[in-house]
Amino acid sequence: MLNRREFIAATAGLATLGGRTARGFGADGFKPVRETPLKAGYWGTQFYDEKELQQLSEVHSRRQPFRWYGPGNQAPGKVAAFEKEWAERMQTRFALAVTSGTAALQTALASLQIGPGDEVILPAWTWHSCFNAIVLAGALPVFAEIDESFNIDPADIESKITPQTRAIMVAHLQGNPCDMDSIMALANRHGLKVLEDCAQSVGASYKGRPLGSIGHIGIYSLQLNKSITAGEGGAVVTHDPLLFERAARFHDLGALRPPHEKILGKPSLEWFIAPQFRMNEFSGGVLLAQLRKLDSIVAAVRNNARLVYEGIRDLPGLHSRRLPDPAGELGSAVFLGFTSKRQCEEYMRAMSKENVPAHPPAGSVILPVLRHIEQKVTVHPAWPSFNTERGKSIRYGAECCPKTLDILSRFAGVSLDPRFTRRETDDIVAAIRRVYPTIVGG
Ligand SMILES: Cc1ncc(COP(=O)(O)O)c(C=O)c1O
Repeated sequence: MLNRREFIAATAGLATLGGRTARGFGADGFKPVRETPLKAGYWGTQFYDEKELQQLSEVHSRRQPFRWYGPGNQAPGKVAAFEKEWAERMQTRFALAVTSGTAALQTALASLQIGPGDEVILPAWTWHSCFNAIVLAGALPVFAEIDESFNIDPADIESKITPQTRAIMVAHLQGNPCDMDSIMALANRHGLKVLEDCAQSVGASYKGRPLGSIGHIGIYSLQLNKSITAGEGGAVVTHDPLLFERAARFHDLGALRPPHEKILGKPSLEWFIAPQFRMNEFSGGVLLAQLRKLDSIVAAVRNNARLVYEGIRDLPGLHSRRLPDPAGELGSAVFLGFTSKRQCEEYMRAMSKENVPAHPPAGSVILPVLRHIEQKVTVHPAWPSFNTERGKSIRYGAECCPKTLDILSRFAGVSLDPRFTRRETDDIVAAIRRVYPTIVGG
């Protein structure tokens, strides 16, 4: 006779044989919580309406797709307006629009004057862009472990600091703010700069302060998977006029255009050699419309997460992802933790049978184990990052992030959507309540 847990494990295994999903039977062998699988959508595009169209139409009819000039007597102003409203929303002195979150990271590192010989600490679990931007700056990336928030573990940062360390790149992943009090205290003790990567947490906050406004410089992505979007796009924020000037110049070939010069007052820098990451007016217009909806999108998804957390709060032994500021997180997903990978996989199989799929932490990559990172493959063999003594000797691979590998193998979550109905959040609660106790208690 199988006990309940063994039954679930056995039937869940059968159900996924050959990639087929069993229909009509839930994890306990009876009717599943839902008839069809629940699926979260892309957030920003669900809110596209006549506001985005109006912005696009204005750029189109004025024939002004370029942010700095164009035909007609009125100067283009979509990207400029977006920058102004972004700085206000993020409570920073300055904001700069760029072409992507990756471009924003490169711009922010340049703005901090990170270059060859410098080391930057980043989490082992984050997006490719973080590592790539450090290498593209000619600097050396040094990985730190994550903790159960899935964000960089402040306790592991200190042991990674060397005399060459210049900055800590923290990434607020999947809507969850990092432990910024500990990180800022540590950075201040060691005289390091903090770059906040808010790509996956646009609109989230930490202890009442918008993410991006706490460190020395912050970046955002406005690509499709993010809170709001124009398909592609990015932004850089800072309170520091010198960092802003260097960022504004870096994103535009080294030049400082009159509108940015006006915002700054008096420039402090000369031309320097730089790439070109300017945002166009179509993107600026769409992002302006989306930004004006950001707070309602965030409120909706947060409310859905609250309903789920409240609905499962009394489950005995509930182990969820660590939230350094529960009021500030976006609520992108509700992650639960298990004591082993096997138990976590059982949970995912059972949730899938209830048509409320749970998935492992997503949207980032365990970077040190990627082949091209482990082997330090760069576009040119003499790339500065890996040609110093330290660059040659640093080891990546699984050995530098055992804790990260372990944590990520033991958590699974259900993604949330700002447009989920009460019925859908109730389904999530019902599925977790049915499945979780049988897995952890059985
Ligand atoms: C943590 C993080 N940083 C940076 C980026 C880069 O943003 P983009 O795709 O806009 O270049 C992403 C994109 O997913 C990300 O998740």
